[in-house]
Amino acid sequence: MRKTAILALLAVLSTPSWAFQGDAQKGKVIATSVCFACHGADGVSPIPTQPHLAAQLPDYIVKQLNNMKSVNGAPPARNNPIMSGIVSMLSEDDIRNVAAWYAAQPPKRSQATSPKLVAVGEKLWRAGDADRGIPACSGCHGPTGSGVPALFPRLSGQYQEYTQIQLQHFKNGTRSNDPSGIMRAVAHRLNNEEIKALADFTAGLR
Ligand code: HEC
Ligand code: HEC
Repeated sequence: MRKTAILALLAVLSTPSWAFQGDAQKGKVIATSVCFACHGADGVSPIPTQPHLAAQLPDYIVKQLNNMKSVNGAPPARNNPIMSGIVSMLSEDDIRNVAAWYAAQPPKRSQATSPKLVAVGEKLWRAGDADRGIPACSGCHGPTGSGVPALFPRLSGQYQEYTQIQLQHFKNGTRSNDPSGIMRAVAHRLNNEEIKALADFTAGLR
């Protein structure tokens, strides 16, 4: 993607949205009865392939849950068999309420594991690689990776394994629910070592 195209897209995507509406206490009931086994009642997941949801942006959670829903029998925009079965049972109010609950939980903190990977990841995070058309991740996800409302998710503190899987899925097109193909364009230019490095760096970022 050309730089001008990215800047134009950024202007559109970062248009401020109205304040998020959702009832966190009603959402808590759903989290503690349906989601807890895989994401934790407080959004801290016990398993690295199941993402932490604590402090994730509520609009992003709503978008993902809607994307994982099958509409009129068509395959969902984000195709995950486990999640699709679950979201089919949730109403639009349930989705907003559970998003409000998880968004209000304190963020999970984690650690990077390899100084060598962190060095590679940090450079791409802050500066990208202009020669290869890779934009700085921080430009969209925020300098500390805490996300930028309403569209750019929190990445900091997330499991390395989950982040790595998502970047690979964007790279090979298995995940294609990103607006205007923005993440596919970025991930397509990253090699496997860089994906690993970015996943390690963002896990420890705060
Ligand atoms: C049986 C396990 C399981 C249960 C129960 C479950 N999830 Fe998930 N969830 C997953 C897995 C696995 C993924 C990762 C999918 C992928 O790799 O694309 C996921 C992904 C998500 C995502 C995407 C997060 C992101 O960062 O993009 C959201 C949001 C989510 N789940 C919310 C929920 C909510 C809300 C509930 C309860 C109503 C729930 N999940 C119940 C397993 C589960
Ligand atoms: C031009 C803006 C932009 C840039 C630059 C960008 N991202 Fe993203 N990223 C997004 C958007 C938008 C999404 C949400 C996609 C969706 O709605 O499903 C996203 C989603 C993600 C996700 C999925 C998170 C989850 O919880 O499933 C990961 C991982 C990610 N980006 C990593 C990166 C990394 C690493 C870089 C730098 C190499 C980067 N992004 C650069 C816009 C951007």
